[in-house]
Parts: sequence; C-alpha cells; structure tokens
Amino acid sequence: MSLEHALREIKLDLRKYMMKPAKRSKVVKLSEMKDFFMDSEAVEKILSKGKDPVIYQYYEFIEEEAPGHLTIGLTVLYPGKVGKEYFMTRGHFHEKDSAELYYGISGEGILLIQSRQGETDYMVLKPGTIGYVPPGWGHRTINTGRKRFVFLFAYFSDAGHDYGVVKEKGFAKIVIEEKGKPKVVDNPKYLEG
Ligand code: PA5
Ligand code: NI
Repeated sequence: MSLEHALREIKLDLRKYMMKPAKRSKVVKLSEMKDFFMDSEAVEKILSKGKDPVIYQYYEFIEEEAPGHLTIGLTVLYPGKVGKEYFMTRGHFHEKDSAELYYGISGEGILLIQSRQGETDYMVLKPGTIGYVPPGWGHRTINTGRKRFVFLFAYFSDAGHDYGVVKEKGFAKIVIEEKGKPKVVDNPKYLEG
C-alpha cells in the first residue's frame, strides 16, 4: 500500500441507509432463516402465502481479511415479527475470539450476547449508543421498534464467522412482543438442535 493511497474514505448515506464503498453486501430473507426463528409454524404460514420478506441487509467494507485490519459495516434490520418474535439477525460467534463494536444510528433494538457456556446479557441499542461485544461472545441484534433499526459495526477482519452453533442450538434468550412491548425471555427450544 503506497503512502499516497493509504487512507480510506467510507461514506454513509443516512437517507438511503447505504454504505459506499462496500466490498460485500447481503440481503437476508425469511426463507434463509427458517431454522432461526422459534415458531416454525409462523415461518411456514408466511412463506406459504408466497411472501418472503427481507429481514435485514448489510454492507461491509473489507480492506483485507488479515490480522490488524478492521471490517466496518452497516446493517439495516427491518421491523416486523414472526409469530411473537421480532425480526432479528441470524447471530454468530467469531471463529477467532475478538471484540466487536456496534453503534446505533436509527431506530431501536436489542443487542443480545451469549458466551459459549450459554450465559447471556443484553442492552438496548439506540441512536448514539455504542455497544461493545467482548471477545468470545456470540451476538445477535433484534429490531424491537416500528422503524428500520440501523447500526454501524466494526470487527477484526481475520475474525471469521461461525453461524453453525446458533443455527443448531439457538440463543438461550429470545425477544418477543408481549402486551405490545418487547420482552427478553428464555428460549423454549434452546439446545434442541
Ligand atoms: O458483524 C456483525 O456482528 C454484524 O454486523 C452482523 O454481521 C450483521 O448485523 C448481520 O448479522 P449476521 O452476520 O448474524 O447475519
Ligand atoms: Ni460479529
């Protein structure tokens, strides 16, 4: 990398909620998350109507997937529910234990974390709030509001992603709507596989 071209400028479009440049972007629809929501009947009911809603999308700026580099991204998580459970990201552990930073930009949601032993913790992520995920903790975000929940994230580029554990075992806690309000409760299907 020559000195003249060492700096990178990344622009956030806060009207369209886009990030440019982005080297990787992904749209995740409900059909890709069948095993992640607790209420599989509710999933099938939505899909059988010929609907496959976008749950979230994200953009990532990756300079190099090498030690020392940071990957910076923007996630747009749509509002909605599957049964009682709010729209959420799949969630993952990083293969290499390393921290991750979250910064709330718009809307409101929950940042849920879980250790490999199954302990959990969570916080509300709002515009202006920073969430620090410690190394080794799996993490997922949940949109508990009525608007798009948008946040910035940054993690070590060589961290790698493990989605398998969450897909098979789930998180110990889930976030549902009860009497019109979000509630963090035990996941009845946790560890079921
Ligand atoms: O890097 C993160 O932890 C997040 O920004 C996510 O990658 C992003 O929100 C999408 O979630 P997931 O990777 O669990 O599908
Ligand atoms: Ni992560």
